[in-house]
Amino acid sequence: MARKNKKQIFEEVEVIDAGAKGKGVAKAPDGRVIFLPYAVPGDIVDVQTFKKRKAFFEGKIAKFHTKSPKRTNPECEHFGVCGGCKWQNMAYEHQLFYKQKEVLNNLARIGKIELPEFISILGSEKQYFYRNKMEFSFSDSRWLTLEEIQSDKDFGDKNALGFHIPGMWDKILDINKCHLQEDPSNAIRTAVKDFALKNNFEFFNPRNQTGLLRTMMIRTSSTGEIMVLIQFYDDKKEERELLLDFLKEEFPEVTSLQYVVNQKPNDTIYDQEIVCYAGRDHIFEEMEGLKFKINAKSFYQTNSEQAYELYKITRDFADLSGDELVYDLYTGTGTIAQFVAKKAKKVVGVESVPEAIEDAKANAQLNGIDNVTFYAGDMKEVFNDTFIEQNGKPDVVITDPPRDGMHKDVVQQLLNIAAEKIVYVSCNSATQARDLALMDHLYKVIKVQPVDMFPQTHHVENVVLLQRR
Ligand SMILES: C[S@@+](CC[C@H](N)C(=O)[O-])C[C@H]1O[C@@H](n2cnc3c(N)ncnc32)[C@H](O)[C@@H]1O
Repeated sequence: MARKNKKQIFEEVEVIDAGAKGKGVAKAPDGRVIFLPYAVPGDIVDVQTFKKRKAFFEGKIAKFHTKSPKRTNPECEHFGVCGGCKWQNMAYEHQLFYKQKEVLNNLARIGKIELPEFISILGSEKQYFYRNKMEFSFSDSRWLTLEEIQSDKDFGDKNALGFHIPGMWDKILDINKCHLQEDPSNAIRTAVKDFALKNNFEFFNPRNQTGLLRTMMIRTSSTGEIMVLIQFYDDKKEERELLLDFLKEEFPEVTSLQYVVNQKPNDTIYDQEIVCYAGRDHIFEEMEGLKFKINAKSFYQTNSEQAYELYKITRDFADLSGDELVYDLYTGTGTIAQFVAKKAKKVVGVESVPEAIEDAKANAQLNGIDNVTFYAGDMKEVFNDTFIEQNGKPDVVITDPPRDGMHKDVVQQLLNIAAEKIVYVSCNSATQARDLALMDHLYKVIKVQPVDMFPQTHHVENVVLLQRR
């Protein structure tokens, strides 16, 4: 094994592509691909490899010969250490180019389907501070950078509030300023950390499963409302209330202050009871006059402004006249369903998270929309023949599955019901391509439009219009 991963140096290789989970791509002299984090196409570099496989190497830049003209200066001081925003060193227009290329490649290579000309990728107006939801982790094992270790400074306590270092489940990078969420996100995080340190609150130790403070989620919205949810490990009322009261006083703009005491080994909150400490247990998002109620567990697109663009493209692709029965599969809090409802006879939404469906129903009522129906359940169970009998055969299906794409039974059911049109929204064009291939004998791809929801990362959303053959 050790021999297999023997380090090698390749001199003066050109970085020729970007994609591969955000890594740059170069070619070794033997033709094998080299994946290079933080490399930008156009760089000419010496590469040191640290992993060798049959088809590829993984390496790092050992020396620059030429820096690519596609490079730009990263905004964030944590760039290169924090696992997020890996493309900050590539100018935005080039990020868009490589995102579109990835979608095209996936549809062509994995899907192997006939494709129309792409509509150019839609970039995001905001390239920083575009996220409406962030989750930070507390840890008593702060990640020290190489420079910090090499400096002789005494860092005192090792408490951190920030992000997991990629591949290190127990190490957290302490964040001074994150460029992903608008203020008061940074202000809340720093104030909470300072208050916790001043009061000697214990930060979580994931190895021993000890400590008071576990995670903090902040949700902001276009309406100006803010949700803060603190996850505690220890169930200590006095300390908990001290912190929550501090937050309440210091940040009166927080409209929803919540907490959860979670003593499970993992920190997902979906199976936990969440307690509303002050304000409401939800916040509102707004889009085209529609209001969306969002609770701590609800899914809502994380870039609200770009979500609006995505939904408009989806609605345009659906091209509804007002007479159609529309299904909105994986509906979340029913945003797309309500967004298209005015132009449809009826919309039926399905989603697995019951709380999201409760919100979807409440939203529809709030918005005075009475031609939508929502069902909670796993798509592959719910979306059966009885369901179709009860709700009718749809004219148009909108589907927006999670990264894994659609279960094969769901694809099969789509083929069985053979709606005239399908609009497939996806955050993973590889699984989308796989699903499109399964439908190719019955559906032709008419339009493709990638949308960038996540600037500075390699992620890309893609909307495809399918027409029955
Ligand atoms: C990409 S989100 C789309 C949400 C929504 N269309 C929107 O734009 O806000 C995918 C949704 O699918 C839901 N989901 C995941 N797996 C599911 C399943 N097996 N059955 C039904 N819904 C599922 C998730 O909870 C999430 O709300």
